[in-house]
Amino acid sequence: MLDEVVIKTESLLKIFEEGKKREVTALNDVSLQIRRGEVFGLLGPNGAGKTTLIRILVGLLTPTGGEAHVLGRNVTADIEYIRERVALLPQEAGIYERLTARENLIYYGGLYGIPEETLNERADELLDIVGLREKEDYQVKGFSGGMKRKVLVARALIIEPEIIFMDEPTTGVDTIGARVVRTLLKRLSSERNQTIILTTHDLNEVSELCHRVGILNQGRLVAVGKPTELEEKFKAANLEEVFTGLVTGEGVYGE
Ligand SMILES: Nc1ncnc2c1ncn2[C@@H]1O[C@H](COP(=O)(O)OP(=O)(O)OP(=O)(O)O)[C@@H](O)[C@H]1O
Ligand SMILES: [Mg+2]
Repeated sequence: MLDEVVIKTESLLKIFEEGKKREVTALNDVSLQIRRGEVFGLLGPNGAGKTTLIRILVGLLTPTGGEAHVLGRNVTADIEYIRERVALLPQEAGIYERLTARENLIYYGGLYGIPEETLNERADELLDIVGLREKEDYQVKGFSGGMKRKVLVARALIIEPEIIFMDEPTTGVDTIGARVVRTLLKRLSSERNQTIILTTHDLNEVSELCHRVGILNQGRLVAVGKPTELEEKFKAANLEEVFTGLVTGEGVYGE
């Protein structure tokens, strides 16, 4: 991991207007820094704001207030620069159902202007890693949920991005597949200094994979740190206790 900060948010605010009277504050005063090569886990219960934060950082949503910088550029001013250098594995949809597994990778990489020969080499390697080589010429629409997730993981990686946002990369993926994905992400961080921001509901995955985690609750960042630091700070036996304590308001002894 390097010292260079590649993601920085300051007092980030996102309010969704629903109709005239209802608003949802999805992110509230979120200030966060993530360094190059770091595997950073975003945790939080359903509706906490994890996907919203990722979508702001890749330019799919504009913040209501505060600032966000990715690779030193402001997401509202310089999103083209950022988009060329980051990849997103979305929580939902985003896959090209009518294309085959291989075509999904090649087409996506082509959008980034990567030469076909390079793409074919990378696709071979990635499809091997995620175990879809034999199915590479099948249309994705017939794939199971976990197989689609694997295609999306491979597709995000084919552009060899500086930063990879993965919104629940292992949800629905079987035990062995999830292990493969985790091993791959660890390698990209340690060998290539790629920065990985992932969300997950699997706290074991977080303990194994993430250098640091940020816990969101109702749009607020309620804790940031190394899993072991948080356990110490909150006098908890494990990350699950930290998480439960912070999110339910029970058993938070730290501060
Ligand atoms: N496009 C939208 N329009 C209106 N409200 C939205 C929109 N997107 C998200 N929200 C609201 O913002 C809040 C945060 O949602 P978000 O999807 O970021 O949560 P999350 O932490 O990713 O949850 P999950 O674990 O279920 O994926 C929720 O209250 C949600 O209903
Ligand atoms: Mg989400």
